[in-house]
Amino acid sequence: MNVTARDDIAYVQRVGDPGSGSADGIAPDSQTGPSSQTGPSSQTGPSSQTGPSSQTGKAPRTKPAGPLATTNEFSREVLTMVRNFHRTFPQYQETPLIQLPALAAELGVGGIWIKDESKRFDLNSFKVLGGAYAVARYLGDRLGIAPEELSFARLNSPEARAELGTVNFVTATDGNHGRAVAWSARELGHRAVVFMPKGASSHRVANIEKEGAEVHVTAGNYDETIRVARAYMEEHGGVIVQDTSWEGYRDIPLWIMQGYAVVLDEVADQLQAAGVQYPDVAFLQAGVGSFAGGAAAAIAERYGDKRPRVAVVEPSAAACYYESVRIADGEPYDIGGELDSIMVGLACGEPNRLAWPILRDHADLYFSVADSVSASAMRVLAQPRGGDEALVAGESAVAGLGIVLALSHARQAGSAKAEAAWHALGLGPEAQVLIVSTEGDTDPDHYRRILNEKLYPAAWEGA
Ligand SMILES: Cc1ncc(COP(=O)(O)O)c(C=O)c1O
Repeated sequence: MNVTARDDIAYVQRVGDPGSGSADGIAPDSQTGPSSQTGPSSQTGPSSQTGPSSQTGKAPRTKPAGPLATTNEFSREVLTMVRNFHRTFPQYQETPLIQLPALAAELGVGGIWIKDESKRFDLNSFKVLGGAYAVARYLGDRLGIAPEELSFARLNSPEARAELGTVNFVTATDGNHGRAVAWSARELGHRAVVFMPKGASSHRVANIEKEGAEVHVTAGNYDETIRVARAYMEEHGGVIVQDTSWEGYRDIPLWIMQGYAVVLDEVADQLQAAGVQYPDVAFLQAGVGSFAGGAAAAIAERYGDKRPRVAVVEPSAAACYYESVRIADGEPYDIGGELDSIMVGLACGEPNRLAWPILRDHADLYFSVADSVSASAMRVLAQPRGGDEALVAGESAVAGLGIVLALSHARQAGSAKAEAAWHALGLGPEAQVLIVSTEGDTDPDHYRRILNEKLYPAAWEGA
């Protein structure tokens, strides 16, 4: 099934920005006119993104929407504490931040930086940073260990194991989160029961089973699978470790977000070491938005009013943040249905209510993209330009880079809409672009087919 190239990218800007509230299909052939979606509303708080300046090639920086409502939950101190916990795992290492100068020159930006989360703990995705921290915080609370004193060794000590017995952790996942929870449970001497949506790839199921977990594939989509996991937990007991919140369920999803935020803390240190004090634009892909929310909070904390533009990226089949911002009343909206996308990690229709206010107020653009946008970026990273390093990036990992690729090609072909989006993102010859490649080839058969058979071609690839 090929996705047609037309209308493969649409975006809205943060509510309250000049010209925001309008969705703009950026088909490379410019077939779609600007749609007249709902207008801006001031309900979601102040925002003052300055307009682009094409003079210098460097657009003025985004002014943030004001302090984070949840500042103390993502402060430098909290993130340092979380990172110190991660460091206690023998497997912990910073994942590489890879610069791609040849690609940057080809696309007309100052720098492209890819954080390679396929290298995280041998688990092929970033998710363990959240799952392990949440499992540890839960166990630590039961043992009366203060968060700043948590360590892998303490949780794994014979005394801790004896006191806790075997805890049953329950979760729903499209793959990576469940693998992370199963891994954490096994490493710390506990059990996991994992629910996956229909259509889950056999490879992803097997990887979770390899961690000793019991896996059930449901008949529903991701959001429905969460409800199945909750029902199982209510019937059988156990502790649900979910990456999204609901009424009365806040601590664990918050810990997961704090765990994810460490990725951006690492990136900021690595960029600084490479001489980049402030990146200009960061692309953050969203499923339920816990990753993007944690990352955007870390960015806001770390960079303050010099923070980069933040672009949230979702598959068009599950673009719940895009839709919520488009509706523009300050509230999050759920999307149902099949949520069918190759970006299975992003195929979630219900925004995490903890992440929503962060992404509403501390992101700038919200993209809804076709599968071809992701697939084309996967191919470019696998077959690098010039002396650039090759990267293995999975379907949910690099749609942000796909946006830059598509816009760059469409601009060169004279698309005014692509030009407008390029400037809205602050792209230009000096812009330092950050992409967090959140997974490797978590479904290796599909990955190979995307590369070798050129599945889901983008317009600029000659589709
Ligand atoms: C590889 C990958 N990237 C990004 C995400 C998005 O994370 P979240 O659901 O927290 O938005 C996921 C979620 O499963 C994922 O697996």
